[in-house]
Amino acid sequence: MNQNALSGKVALVTGAGRGIGRSIALALAREGARVALAARTPAQLLDTQRAIEAFGQEAASFPTDVSDEGSVVALVRDTVAHFGRLDMVINNAGIGLFGPLESTRVETWDRVMAVNARGAFLVCREAIPHLRRQRPSFIVNIASVVAVKGYANQSAYSASKHAVLGMSKALARELQADGIRVHVICPGGVDTDMAGQARPDLDRSVLMSPDEIADAVLFLVTRDGKAVIDQIDLRRESATPWA
Ligand SMILES: NC(=O)c1ccc[n+]([C@@H]2O[C@H](COP(=O)([O-])OP(=O)(O)OC[C@H]3O[C@@H](n4cnc5c(N)ncnc54)[C@H](OP(=O)(O)O)[C@@H]3O)[C@@H](O)[C@H]2O)c1
Repeated sequence: MNQNALSGKVALVTGAGRGIGRSIALALAREGARVALAARTPAQLLDTQRAIEAFGQEAASFPTDVSDEGSVVALVRDTVAHFGRLDMVINNAGIGLFGPLESTRVETWDRVMAVNARGAFLVCREAIPHLRRQRPSFIVNIASVVAVKGYANQSAYSASKHAVLGMSKALARELQADGIRVHVICPGGVDTDMAGQARPDLDRSVLMSPDEIADAVLFLVTRDGKAVIDQIDLRRESATPWA
């Protein structure tokens, strides 16, 4: 990869206030991208923004609830107004609410679907007209290993990530002729607040680092060539081989 491979590019990262999204935003900025940062908590966004500005790159914070249509419309509109273009979106914002299906409330099911699936859909829909103006441009959706496997007590979360994977597969073909590359990354356990909540039984030191997911994003948005990469699965080395 060239030094500053993303100079002149603008990236929008959702869920950029902490965890995987923060790592992705920092990695893209280190490669020269100007970065729009979205999540609900302004203080966390500002913290990521300051960390990017500390190494001389430009970032801007846009407090957003990705489950809310008006909020996402404003996010994409304000990002393009601020930076003048949009080259890539990383749909990373997500929540995990866990428990047995038989005691899952409708509100819980709907909230998980609204943030994880509807949120990614809305950001894609609003970004596509702007991405179409750049070639190549990118959508990278962060799904999960639960998009391809099932785990007990994760049915709502798993359903929402299957939705993200299905949408991404269809969209990759829908946008191919426009030069918009759509990728989905399916990570296993990553050392963040969410992983601590989902798998309190796990020693967090065995989990992947958020920077490893950011590396995969960087690979996808900086590569040339004719190969189409629909999906990258990242599983942790410490998981039992049969799990
Ligand atoms: N950690 C793992 O093991 C793992 C594995 C596979 C996939 N993933 C996926 O990776 C993504 C990031 O997870 P993480 O582990 O980094 O979680 P995290 O540390 O909890 O961070 C989640 C980020 O998403 C934001 N977010 C949540 N709800 C939002 C909403 N309604 N609107 C806008 N932003 C919202 C959060 O900010 P606010 O709360 O301030 O809004 C936060 O910045 C998620 O999609 C998750 O499903 C995680």
